[in-house]
Amino acid sequence: MLVFGIDTSCDDTSAALVEDGARIIASTVASSVDLHRDFGGIVPEIACRSHIRDLVPVIDATIKQSGRSLKDINAVAVTNRPGLIGALLIGLNAAKTLAYVLNAPLVALDHVSSHIYSVHMENPALQFPYVALVASGGHTHLYHCTSHFEHRLIGKTLDDAAGEAFDKVSAILNLGYPGGPNIERAAKGVAPGPLRLKRTYLGGDSLDFSFSGIKTAVLYHVRGQDAGQCRRIRRRRKVKPARQATPPEIAAEFQEAVVEVLVTKLMAASKNLRVPAVTVCGGVAANERLREAVAQACSRAGAACYFPSKALCTDNAAMVAGLGYHYAAAGRHSPLDVDAVATSW
Ligand code: KG4
Ligand code: ZN
Repeated sequence: MLVFGIDTSCDDTSAALVEDGARIIASTVASSVDLHRDFGGIVPEIACRSHIRDLVPVIDATIKQSGRSLKDINAVAVTNRPGLIGALLIGLNAAKTLAYVLNAPLVALDHVSSHIYSVHMENPALQFPYVALVASGGHTHLYHCTSHFEHRLIGKTLDDAAGEAFDKVSAILNLGYPGGPNIERAAKGVAPGPLRLKRTYLGGDSLDFSFSGIKTAVLYHVRGQDAGQCRRIRRRRKVKPARQATPPEIAAEFQEAVVEVLVTKLMAASKNLRVPAVTVCGGVAANERLREAVAQACSRAGAACYFPSKALCTDNAAMVAGLGYHYAAAGRHSPLDVDAVATSW
């Protein structure tokens, strides 16, 4: 079955043609990141205008690249939640139009479920049940996954998402946008210096996350307002003066702190639920240090771990078309009046 996928949930405009849920025949992603760089984050109005400009060329390029014709498409899958509402509506309306003119079923999907599915595309050995960590610019969520259709939320961030924290810390350190790859590059081969960031575990058996404290601690250190720099605080807390950490040292310590918390909670969840495998997906899953730390923790725990390839970590429509295959094959179609929803389930 050939499924055409579309994703316009955030800043990337993407389309893909996928066969039987796994074979990517063609995939195109047009990024508008350059237009957002000066603002240090996604500007919804700019993202929407970029989708309007790019979506039809992206669909055309995908069909051309595939060597197939529109008439070969058996179903159309599209992200209708969660995301920027204007951006979602653009992709959803294009998908409805395609489905209508091709007389093909429409499948409207949750973007987070598509990220979770992305791991299956290149890892046929991955079996249910498992715990999935979705770490992206908008999510840091843990799910107990028992089928392609059932993901139970077991933990989530109470404030910033992990990717959002990477982006904000990168802005504080003047490393540019998007922050994740820039922080990773700056931290590569650098030992954390004098700065020690407190890991936030939220106590007890909590599987929730909080990254705003780590981000604020970085900000205070850079401004010289933390215990290491500020004489008044040092005297009160009786701590020795410390030198200011360099931006690469801060990047390295920040990355270690985030990775440590993500890995600890992921492994705790897999132990609690006694699942034999874990997966990590979403933009932050592209981070090499995170992949390495998860692999080491899983090897110690005797669990299997799976990641998407880097191209499938960040937003793409191949994962949407991939998951769309399972929905279409199970007859889980969506009506043509299905709406876009800004928030997740
Ligand atoms: O999944 P994604 O492309 O879009 C959302 O659905 O949010 O994730 C984008 C996020 C950004 O916050 C970006 O900084 C982060 O993923 N990211 C990374 C890396 N590559 C992208 N974070 C850490 N390390 C990376 N190598
Ligand atoms: Zn995403």
